Amino acid sequence: MLTTRPTFVFFLLFLTLPFCSLSQSSNPVYNSFLKCFSDKTKTSQAQNVFSQSNSSYSSVLRAYIRNARFNTSTTPKPTLIITPRSDKHVSAAVLCAKPLNFVFKIRSGGHDYDGLSYVADRPFFVLDLSNLRKVTVDIADQSAWISAGATLGEVYYRIREKSRVHGFPAGVCPTVGVGGHLSGGGYGNLLRKFGLTVDNLIDAKIVDVNGRILDRKSMGEDLFWAISGGGGGSFGVVLGYKVKLVPVPSIVTVFRVETFIESGAVDMVHKWQSVGPKTDRNLFLRMLLQPVTRNRVQTVRATAVALFLGRAEDVVSLLSKELPELALKKENCTEMTWYQSALWWDNRLNATQIDPKVFLDRNLDSSRFLKRKSDYVATEIPRDGIESLFRKMIEIGRVGLVFNPYGGKMAEIAEDATPLPHRKMLYKIQYSVNWQESSPEIESGLLNQSRVLHSFMAEFVSKNPRRAYLNYRDVDIGVNDHGPNSYEQGEVYGRMYFGKNFDRLVKIKTAVDPGNFFRNEQSIPTLPSKA
Ligand code: FDA
Repeated sequence: MLTTRPTFVFFLLFLTLPFCSLSQSSNPVYNSFLKCFSDKTKTSQAQNVFSQSNSSYSSVLRAYIRNARFNTSTTPKPTLIITPRSDKHVSAAVLCAKPLNFVFKIRSGGHDYDGLSYVADRPFFVLDLSNLRKVTVDIADQSAWISAGATLGEVYYRIREKSRVHGFPAGVCPTVGVGGHLSGGGYGNLLRKFGLTVDNLIDAKIVDVNGRILDRKSMGEDLFWAISGGGGGSFGVVLGYKVKLVPVPSIVTVFRVETFIESGAVDMVHKWQSVGPKTDRNLFLRMLLQPVTRNRVQTVRATAVALFLGRAEDVVSLLSKELPELALKKENCTEMTWYQSALWWDNRLNATQIDPKVFLDRNLDSSRFLKRKSDYVATEIPRDGIESLFRKMIEIGRVGLVFNPYGGKMAEIAEDATPLPHRKMLYKIQYSVNWQESSPEIESGLLNQSRVLHSFMAEFVSKNPRRAYLNYRDVDIGVNDHGPNSYEQGEVYGRMYFGKNFDRLVKIKTAVDPGNFFRNEQSIPTLPSKA
């Protein structure tokens, strides 16, 4: 779908060209929306609505495009961008957009890997929540209200302002937005101790299809459950969440150790499968696999990257028993505060020295070309399977894999506690390829490489359905045109993301948004009507 099909591009151009060539004030869609929006909010909203002829349109759109594949001159662009500054603005924007029949995309941090929050193949608006970024931390209550447009870096920074022994179990990229991350599940390196981000929710606020602002009590447990990992974009506009903070020690340990095929990577990665998901839940030991050329020889580099909620000597002692193949030494380890470890995981290796405020930097309009896919492993891959995988990675060329261990707290939570059902899996795989060159040939070659590796992995990963992680958005696994076969189309990707929980999500969707106003290429469909 978001591979820009020519028929849709033509359709889009046909519908948008007349408006593009108009000045903002003579654009009927702009005028109609703006009048309604200003009337409902009782203030002029001209500074919060951007048509394509507004001089700021491009910079507002590009600020939160995080994948350069969707930042080209041919990428379909929204007819309007709306940048609300309050919850009531969001409510008014929903009510004013509904009668205009445009697809209504919601964007918080813009990190959707396939650009679903700011691209569509038919005329659309973007509701950009980046102005709703309040984070209120209450240490006495061990909780925080975090707004949808806040970034994870801002959340971590605000916690640090109040406490050095509290943290929050969410993703490792500081510019990821709260709105998409939490509504899609969310996880980071505290997962084995505290579960997913959504296992730590207390409350939420959402604007529903009727423009009502609802909290957990008024939305009810079904809708609250759905927006705890079922993808916000199917159910309404999430305004924010109240979350539980978690205790972290005042000193934690991080390390990164590289091994190559020649230095025992096959055995180490094979053994890791029985350690990473089962070891002490204070340890999150990620494995990054990357084909590289070393000393003119093609090989695979296996990098173990870890957070240990404890001291260096304890993790060295633990892994000397459980994973001696890694040969971890104390000099590989660095002790620091939990907040510094978040900086370190963001590749700031001088984390103990740099200004903590770097996490407040939103790095606007910065993106690279990338593609991600996902898989889950339920049973260990045999040693010869790891060997053949390494050979295949070298043959394919550029695609890397990230093995993220589950186990610990994750495995103790019921599969239907939240929409994400993959609780009992050993580990999750992320397929990862980045590139710098703006070239359609390079892009299609690398997208193909990621698909080839994904096909190769079929025999080693979960089956019936093959599982996937919603927040590693991948339109290759199916898309929805929301036509007559919407339910069947939705079931294809929906079962991969949600397993049996798909059925409950469909029922909730049908109850809260029967007209399917909140939709995207991989949203939850409504139940087919009984003809
Ligand atoms: P974006 O604004 O693009 O939204 C993503 C989806 O959620 C879209 O469908 C959008 O419509 C919907 N949405 C957004 N805000 C909404 C709202 N307020 N209400 C309703 N729907 C809304 N994941 C992870 O679990 N752990 C990790 O460590 C990382 N790390 C990471 C690093 C980098 C560099 C990237 C690009 C991505 C990740 N991710 C990740 C994936 C990330 O969690 C996922 O892309 C999130 O959906 C991003 O949320 P944003 O709000 O930034 O995205």
